[in-house]
Amino acid sequence: MTTPNNTEHANIAVITGASSGLGEQFYETIAHRYPDLDEIWLIARRKERLEALAERYPNIRARVRALAFDLSAASSYDELSSMLAEEQPVVRVLINNAGFEREGLLRDMTPKDILAMIDLNIMGMTMVNRVFSAVYARWLIRSNHRIGLLVRPDPMADGVFGEQGVHPFPRAGFA
Ligand SMILES: NC(=O)c1ccc[n+]([C@@H]2O[C@H](COP(=O)([O-])OP(=O)(O)OC[C@H]3O[C@@H](n4cnc5c(N)ncnc54)[C@H](OP(=O)(O)O)[C@@H]3O)[C@@H](O)[C@H]2O)c1
Repeated sequence: MTTPNNTEHANIAVITGASSGLGEQFYETIAHRYPDLDEIWLIARRKERLEALAERYPNIRARVRALAFDLSAASSYDELSSMLAEEQPVVRVLINNAGFEREGLLRDMTPKDILAMIDLNIMGMTMVNRVFSAVYARWLIRSNHRIGLLVRPDPMADGVFGEQGVHPFPRAGFA
């Protein structure tokens, strides 16, 4: 892909859970803080909300794409990986934010809700990191500069495990 700044690959930002809450706020910030982006990928399940958000800032340079994926479904990671392999974008920003939580004590939650939280907040977060981090890391190494941004709101705040602690999931990194 040839982009307007004549680089070979599109510079993109990716925001998961972009259809509401923190993700929507991250989108507003990124749309304005990174004016040289070629594309912003908004990912969540509600396609209509994403499409409406994609129209929200008509004056920014980036093409905003509404990508409906259920990040608790394994097939989504395959599809995203295929998109990355085909389009070969440069992932400048990854906001790995999709998640949900239920209020209350663990013992009062239904097994269905607990498993759904694990599917999205743990498996989904980890697999999104895996799908995008290889591309992201390649860019950091090649570019040798420090504009990239990788963010994940703390999954331990989601209530599945009750308290913060050591865990195998990268939470946030700034480059
Ligand atoms: N708000 C806070 O103060 C706070 C504090 C600490 C941590 N967090 C964590 O930060 C994350 C975002 O919080 P929030 O308050 O912004 O929540 P929110 O308003 O409920 O937003 C959650 C986002 O995740 C998306 N999402 C939910 N299930 C999904 C799925 N299966 N596949 C893809 N996307 C999915 C939702 O979109 P769709 O429904 O369209 O899919 C929505 O865009 C959560 O993990 C939360 O636990 C929030």
